[in-house]
Amino acid sequence: MLLLTQTGFAQKLLVTDLSCEHKVNPIGVDVAAPRFSWKLSGAGRNIMQKAYSIRVATDKNFASKKTSWQSGKVNSDESVLLTYAGTALQSGTRYYWQVKVWDANNNESAWSSPAYWEMGLLLPQDWKAQWIEPVQSDEKQMPALVLRKDFAVQKKIAAARAYVTSHGFYELHINGKKVGDEIFTPGWTSYNKRLQYQVFDITPLLLQGANSVGAMLADGWYRSSLAWEKNWGTWGKKLGLLCQLQITYTDGSEQTVITDNSWKGSQDGPITRDGIYDGESYDARKEMRGWSNAGFDDSKWKAVAVADGAKDDLIAVQTVPVRRIQEIKPLRIFKTPKGLLVADFGQNMVGWVKLKVKGDAGTLITIRHAEVLDKYGDFYTDNLRAATATAEYTLKGGDEETYEPRFSFFGFRYIAVNGYPGELKPEDVTGVVVHSDMKQTGSFECSNALVNQLQHNIQWGQKGNFVDVPTDCPQRDERLGWTGDAQAFCRTAAFNMDVAPFFTKWLKDVAADQEPDGAVPFVIPDVLRNKNTSAGWGDVSTIAPWTMYRVFGDKRILETQYPSMKAYVEYIRKKAGDSYMWKGGSVFGDWLFYKSMAQTENDGYTSPDMIATMFYAYSAKLLAQAAEVLGKTDDVQTYNNIFDKIKEVFNRNYVTAEGRIASESQTSYVLALHFGLLPEALRAKATQYLVEDIKGRHNHLSTGFLGTPYLCHVLTANGRTDVAYDLLLQQTFPSWLYPVKMGATTIWERWDGQKTDSTFQDVGMNSFNHYAYGAIGDWMYRVAAGIEIGAPGYKHILVQPQPDKKLTYAKASFESSYGQIASGWEMKDGKLLVKVKVPANTTATIILPEAQTNKVTEGGIPVGTAFKNVKQDKNNLVIEAGSGDYSFEYVPGGN
Ligand code: BGC
Repeated sequence: MLLLTQTGFAQKLLVTDLSCEHKVNPIGVDVAAPRFSWKLSGAGRNIMQKAYSIRVATDKNFASKKTSWQSGKVNSDESVLLTYAGTALQSGTRYYWQVKVWDANNNESAWSSPAYWEMGLLLPQDWKAQWIEPVQSDEKQMPALVLRKDFAVQKKIAAARAYVTSHGFYELHINGKKVGDEIFTPGWTSYNKRLQYQVFDITPLLLQGANSVGAMLADGWYRSSLAWEKNWGTWGKKLGLLCQLQITYTDGSEQTVITDNSWKGSQDGPITRDGIYDGESYDARKEMRGWSNAGFDDSKWKAVAVADGAKDDLIAVQTVPVRRIQEIKPLRIFKTPKGLLVADFGQNMVGWVKLKVKGDAGTLITIRHAEVLDKYGDFYTDNLRAATATAEYTLKGGDEETYEPRFSFFGFRYIAVNGYPGELKPEDVTGVVVHSDMKQTGSFECSNALVNQLQHNIQWGQKGNFVDVPTDCPQRDERLGWTGDAQAFCRTAAFNMDVAPFFTKWLKDVAADQEPDGAVPFVIPDVLRNKNTSAGWGDVSTIAPWTMYRVFGDKRILETQYPSMKAYVEYIRKKAGDSYMWKGGSVFGDWLFYKSMAQTENDGYTSPDMIATMFYAYSAKLLAQAAEVLGKTDDVQTYNNIFDKIKEVFNRNYVTAEGRIASESQTSYVLALHFGLLPEALRAKATQYLVEDIKGRHNHLSTGFLGTPYLCHVLTANGRTDVAYDLLLQQTFPSWLYPVKMGATTIWERWDGQKTDSTFQDVGMNSFNHYAYGAIGDWMYRVAAGIEIGAPGYKHILVQPQPDKKLTYAKASFESSYGQIASGWEMKDGKLLVKVKVPANTTATIILPEAQTNKVTEGGIPVGTAFKNVKQDKNNLVIEAGSGDYSFEYVPGGN
């Protein structure tokens, strides 16, 4: 709708961006009471919602007979995650909804354009389909399977859906076309407890008369070798399919096509080998033209077996699908000193390469993948460990052929191509980037090009490691949902991209895989099955739900995860007992803290037992806070008391009267300060020791996975933002910018993955795409640019940019549930310009540093005149503002 500039119309209040359960028009929802969100817009400032009205119907025109819910006019300023409260929602039904709002001046919006969501199959008995398993070999490596069935459509179709899931990866085809654009379906969950199914609108794919449905099945996460032990078939050794096509005719009658013993299968398809770590082989000579078209000759295919698979563990998809997101062309193609033909994509990425080729039938092309070249410029794959990460294509011959893998992925910047007929040109190879299709929500930029590259690297680290679950790395024989890495990075991740659905799903797997005693496995889904937990890793169960609640205002995530959060804290409580100290609880310690490049000095070492006790305190505190939000008063008391006890014991055992903390590492000070474990009187001293340590190292950090995320925050919270900037801008090892200077395009696992002499760290563990250290991104958004949560979901925003003279500008934006928030500053001609954007239906406290009331203008008007509520707080000017765009100007220091 157009916003006219004429007065009257200019005030027009609009409701936009309707979403249901964090998604736009989702189909396949199994939440009994879904939640609705919308955004407001209008001209001018201070737009606040005073009331809303929602209506829901099974009919797009909201005919009264088909109404499922009318909220009526509700006086409330809530516009995020409002819960459906109508009649019980029915399986497979589409519901339309719309909303209108009133603002504080009683302006009424029109009804929004309708949005919809569609329920999935809510009960096990809604599944008429049977699990089927085609004949398949019982070996570790086997070809992908193909399945098919013909069926007829006799009448005119009103709507048709496919409900489908599998053991292993599936690709569904109807009449020669792949259904949907999702990849790696059905996604990765704790398969033995929760298995997602997808719902596709297949109406446009069906034909009058003869039709055919087919599927390919591949090992995927379900059956591939996973983890370095090279075990396979973690959840099962047989691939299977469950598929139900539900066709509704215009006369109201229905037809269901299901997987049953009438399907046929073959193991003789073109994909002769596939697996997560090892890649895929495709023999185009074995292509079965028209295999998913009606009338295909499947007389040589074998009948499938009906299997006994569970249906009561099926869940509708809760996250966003993995898709092909972007394509990248190689920067150059060259021969390495050792004579390999290599293409460089200029970006460490995750996905695969699409290849164009023309040549003789039977020609075999091999594509290997690498993240880096070694110091001689040769192709380096040692750090992939046992992952062979190879795609193979055998030509069918004749016209130009195009190939891209579909059931595997690679982490790479370089590919080495062998066997390509003729000259390999840039137009023949395309890098295809795949990841969970999360909307980009954040941006950060400043006057330092290296920091901007760091932000780029953080975002690419996220792309490459948010492939249905948050993984440690995407390239070697690992790629697992390491919990410690996820807790360290989740706050930064939630700035860069909309991760609400992603974590909603994964955290349920955290809970599902938690041991009966509350221990949280090292990786989720739990591939390792070693029934152990580690401080700083298991804490993902408290840290991530709390973070998601804060960022997205999603109370339900806290509610859902609460039993898991509590079980984890109770697990530690049992271990610690009356000592309130968790001994032996930290398996990994402050993982990969600073050691010299030669790995000789254990310089940044922090006592693992002390770490365990500190995280015990932190998780107990977060649990108490969650209990508070959820109104669990008893638990608030219990866990606050536990926190206090731990704090006391911690101080008695690990802290001197002078505020020195055992280990005296940066991480020991950082965790104690960040987790609120020190008495007020010792905070300044502890900060001083931390700063002395940093200065003693000539402005270098020494933290690992656990200390790094909070390092700069602790400095800021204790008045040393200047030192935080020194660390951020440090270019030599160990620092965030050292890898950038070495040409990194993603975040490295180690501070010195590649050493100053261009040799590499230990091949046993040296990933060049590991997001944990990217956790600094959070500080860049919150402190350098100044976007901070004031109330859950950014209903209230704290805008508090903290400029530093080492930069001339910094700015960030974040698309919150209410709309875009932006904050940025620039030093120009001795003046500080601060630009702020506050979205409709939120309020902000804007804190301008080193500012005096009578010296600051906004849009040329003195702030005292422009705002009702301006306060001087020491050197800061504190302004209460409603929605709008603001631009402040002043000379810092006040002259
Ligand atoms: C992974 C990690 C993980 C760590 C735990 C590594 O192999 O790559 O990032 O957190 O193990 O020790």
